[in-house]
Order: sequence, then C-alpha cells, then structure tokens
Amino acid sequence: MPLDIPLEDHAQMRVRVVTEQPWDVAADVLVVPIVGEPAFDGVLDEIDRRSGGELRALAAFGELTAKRYSMALASAGELPASRLLAVAVGEAPQIDRETVHHIAAAAERRLGGRAVTRLAFWLTPLADALEGGAVAVAELVARGVVEGSYEPGAIYRETVEDAPPALDELVLVAPGADGTSLARAAERGVIVGEGANTARTLSNRAANDVSPEVLADEARALAERHGLWIDVIDERRAAELGMGMFIAVGRGSANQPRMIVMRSGAEGERDALHRHLALVGKGVCFDSGGISIKPAARMEEMKMDKAGACTVIAAIATVARLAPGTPLLAVAPAVENMPGPYSTRPGDVVRALNGKMVDITNTDAEGRLILGDALTYAERLGATHLVDVATLTGAVGRMLGNLVTGAFATPAEWWEQISAAGVRAGERFWPIPLVDDYVPEMDSWYADIQNAGSADGSLVKSGLFIREFTTKPWAHLDIGGTAYFRKPTPFASRGANGVTHATLVELALAGARPA
Ligand code: BES
Ligand code: ZN
Ligand code: MN
Repeated sequence: MPLDIPLEDHAQMRVRVVTEQPWDVAADVLVVPIVGEPAFDGVLDEIDRRSGGELRALAAFGELTAKRYSMALASAGELPASRLLAVAVGEAPQIDRETVHHIAAAAERRLGGRAVTRLAFWLTPLADALEGGAVAVAELVARGVVEGSYEPGAIYRETVEDAPPALDELVLVAPGADGTSLARAAERGVIVGEGANTARTLSNRAANDVSPEVLADEARALAERHGLWIDVIDERRAAELGMGMFIAVGRGSANQPRMIVMRSGAEGERDALHRHLALVGKGVCFDSGGISIKPAARMEEMKMDKAGACTVIAAIATVARLAPGTPLLAVAPAVENMPGPYSTRPGDVVRALNGKMVDITNTDAEGRLILGDALTYAERLGATHLVDVATLTGAVGRMLGNLVTGAFATPAEWWEQISAAGVRAGERFWPIPLVDDYVPEMDSWYADIQNAGSADGSLVKSGLFIREFTTKPWAHLDIGGTAYFRKPTPFASRGANGVTHATLVELALAGARPA
C-alpha cells in the first residue's frame, strides 16, 4: 500500500511504505538485515534463491559475518531491486532501539559514493527482534537513514567524494504491517533525524563562521520558519538584568554574547503533564579556556563547545514541527570564551542572576557559569522542569566514553522521566551522583561558592555547582564525551552527532496534547 509523504526539509526524499514481499520491490538497493548467524530459511532463503545464491555465497566466502556492521553488497539476480546490501545486526537479545537506529545509519553510510536514489529497507527481521515491532522500527530506520546521510564535509565544500547518497525515496518494506501507522512513524523519524542534522551542522560550523550573534540569527530563522517566539538578549540587557556569570564569560571576546530564548506556547503555559519544560543548552562558540587558557592540543575541537545550545535550538524546532503549540522553552546562552584585556581573571568575584556571589577560580570552567544564569532566567520565565545539555567536562568522557552521556538529576522521579525518554529515543545515559558532602570543597574565602573547586571529584562538583542555580526538578546532561566523534564510526561521520536531540524531543512530546 503506497503512501506518499511530502516532507518539509528534505523535499527531495519521500518515504513510502509497502506491504508486499521484499522480492517484489524495485529499488537501486534493497537492504537485507541479518539477525544473528546468517540462517537462510523462510523469506531470507527466498531472497537468496532469487538473487542466484549470492548471499549464501558471500557468507560462505567470509565476506558477510554475524558481527554487527559486517556488510556485503551483492548482485540481485532476478530480483527487481538492482542490488542487495546485507547488513549483520548482531544477536536478537541484544537488539534495542539504538541498534536499529545505528544499523539503518550504517547501511546508508556504507553506500557512500554509490549511485543510489531509491533505497528499499526490509523491516521484518528487525521488527521481529524489537519490542514495539514494525512501527518502532519504521521510525528508527527512517531516522537512521536521514542521520546516516549526514555529511559534514559538505558544509564548506561543493562536492565531497564518497558522501552518503542523497535519496529521492526511501521504501520501507513491511509485509503484513499496517501501512498507515508505519508511514506516520516513519515521517516522525525523518523529522527527528532532520532535527539532529540541523544541530550537527550548527555545531560543526567553525567559530569564525558561527559567533554568538550568528547563532542567534540561525535561531531566529528557525523560529520564524516554525512559528516560535524568540527573544535575543544582548550584553547590555543581560547586564541590566544582572546576569553577572554570563557577562563574566562573554566579556573577553570582541564577539559579544547573546542569551537566546525561544518558546512555543504561551509564557508559563503548562503542557499535558502539567509542566512548563525548559531546555537549556551551553553555547560556547569557542572555548579557549580564557585566561586559564587551554593547551594547544585539540583546542580546535572547542568550536563544538556550543553543541548543547545547537541541540536545544534544533529540538524546540523539531517539537514545533511534530506537535505545534506544545508548551516548551529553550534557553541558549551563547558566548566566546577568550583571553584579552577585558577578560575575567581567575579570582574575579561576580554576582549571579539569582544573587549568589561566585568566585571564578578557573575561567575554563565557563559552561557552568553561563548555564547557571540561563537556568535562573528559565525559572523566571515560568519553567517548572529543567534540563540542561552541555559539553561541560572532559572528565565525563574519561568516565563513560563517547557512547554514554553522563546525567545528573534531582529529584529521582525526574531522573525516571529523563531515563525513559532516553530509552524511547535509543540514546544511552548513566547517572552520576550529586554528593552533598563535597559541597564544602567548593567553598570560597570571598564569595558563596567557587566555580571549579579541587580536582578530586571534579565531575560531581560540576553538577553540584549548577544545582546552586535551580530550585525545580532539574537534570544536567554532560555531553563532553558524547557530543562529537573524533573519527568516523560505521553509523556516523566524524564531528558533531546530535546526541540528546531525540531524547529531548521525546521528553517534550510526552507533554503534547493529542492532535
Ligand atoms: N568545554 C570544556 C569541556 C570539554 C573538554 C568538553 C574537552 C569536551 C572535550 C569545559 O569548558 C572545560 O574546559 N572544562 C574543564 C573544567 C575544569 C576547568 C574544572 C575540564 O573539563 O577540564
Ligand atoms: Zn567549555
Ligand atoms: Mn572550558
């Protein structure tokens, strides 16, 4: 049952759901997921037979193994598809939503440089292995293919060799499924994937290209396009409001800071869960460390220190596309952390927006300063529940690596909500404790608190510091380890990967009123 969905951003890529058998589907490439050891029975046996035994031969030859991301391109014999792409998924009990998303992205990336405009994807083997079945798989595959097509090399270049193919059409093949609900799920997946890619491009763009003002301009463009209210607070207004921590970080750069505030729904309006949810994202367009300057090695990565801001800006736009009018606030403090004659010095004492006096002992612990004022401001605008996203520490990456985001949250019920949204989105989080006993180690001689504190337990202290600026249910997602990949993976390019975008969208949509 064909169902054409016109899609806003990727006007060129349509999604079609067909409920016929994979051997009846015409495409440039048909993706054939292989769960566990390749066992050629049932439908897979029939696909193999019609391909002239290609898949069996490749498996026997060792070209296709059971190892996840093992892939083989095969000729398709008498099948109407021109080629087959067999993709090993791994063992069934280990297949979760993240796996399905990554497998779809990996299949699209495997076709880099190839002439593919119509890609067909056989969903059944994944639908049989995943809780949620074909509907869940349709969403995750559509999202994965869109994210897999992302090519950061194209931001500043006309042509990129071996870029993932730009598809005209994605055909989801699900014999016996309900085509209408699959098509709706796939459309949601495409929109979530596009939002992640929007966040990635903003994050990947260079610091000489995206200043705080340019990030605000990009947010304005998205707000206009998706019917969001926006307010951009400049340095003068921020000073009048009393955002002393935000100003302290922003003042070192000739590129002035901007506090970007976006909203859907009315001021303070509650969603279906009686929340006014605020998403707050760290927008350090470049983090040199300031006067507490960083070493040169890998400093270029710090153009992506704005990933949190880019993610919340993209997420509120995605929510506006999927469920317009859902009450939601996004606050993105955007600054450049630079050394210079006007920079904050270690030992400077500033007054935060919530009135607390802060001793800035290390100007490289700048994220928590701008987030503190942004969280206070979000509460002033009526937020009842808060989540901040930030490339806050290097320590979190040493603890959890690049696939698991560290999370601080209080109270426990709020953590449950965040955690459940992460599961639905197929993203991994691990909780880090807020150890009250360490608070005295952040005492200052001169002020109420210092921003860095001693090195022991510095990751915990980063969360403890931010907590000083919230009075409502709050979570802090530290994407310092997960925001970008230093080299390509099977499922993602090098660079920013849009992590937490899907989780934030899930969290917000939980409060959407049924259309
Ligand atoms: N943006 C960095 C954290 C970071 C470093 C993220 C490397 C990703 C990769 C942050 O502003 C920072 O400099 N944090 C310091 C904190 C310290 C001074 C307490 C850190 O992690 O070293
Ligand atoms: Zn930083
Ligand atoms: Mn820093």
